[in-house]
Amino acid sequence: MNTEVKRGRFITLEGGEGVGKSTQVSRLVERLRGAGVDAIATREPGGSPGAEALRHLLLSGKIKDLGPKAEAILFAAARIDHIDRKIAPALAAGTWVVSDRFADSTRAYQGLGGLDPGFLHALEHVTLGEIRPDLTLILDLPADIGLARAAQRRGSEASDRFEAEDLGFHAALRQAYLEIAAAEPARCVIVDAGLSEGEVAQAIWDTVSFRLLARAAHGA
Ligand code: TYD
Repeated sequence: MNTEVKRGRFITLEGGEGVGKSTQVSRLVERLRGAGVDAIATREPGGSPGAEALRHLLLSGKIKDLGPKAEAILFAAARIDHIDRKIAPALAAGTWVVSDRFADSTRAYQGLGGLDPGFLHALEHVTLGEIRPDLTLILDLPADIGLARAAQRRGSEASDRFEAEDLGFHAALRQAYLEIAAAEPARCVIVDAGLSEGEVAQAIWDTVSFRLLARAAHGA
């Protein structure tokens, strides 16, 4: 009898501020479970106790003073804990993992901090080890619309470290994500986040069904 557990699939949702990732992560996990797939939702920065502690520091803006290199390294440190404690064990147990942000957030956000691309590439290499998303959904929205949505969601709370950056930063961020998608079409799919919540959920589900579920059913 073959008792080997089939590795779970790793799906990441990415995009700028206010594109609706967290809602879509929950909807996707619910739908996967409804289809009989064992799946968990997680997020970055965070997702494990150590990484959640670093999240607090990173989003408070206190780390910004240490400079872009140290900030990128701390995002990576949080990611290592998240991978080791949560993502890798879940995938090994056959559970699908859906993460609100992952390594592309470092590529896009920290990539705008004037860091040497070789440094970010090397950092990603040592951080991820063998772990790579099977599918990355990039939720795309004009920066001004995303920022307005994020501000509405936040209400009277102060904006966090990155939301507080200017419109030029957020427009460049959108471009950075589109470039990631163009460079890795086998992994990345762009989703129009300007559609209704239900339509975005359906577009995501169609992509996951086509790219992952159909192949999983055929044993690929
Ligand atoms: P969060 O409150 O999760 O925002 P969002 O709803 O936009 O995902 O805050 C995460 C912030 O951290 C977000 O502004 C993006 C930023 N970030 C990075 O700059 N680099 C990273 O590697 C990650 C994971 C997040």
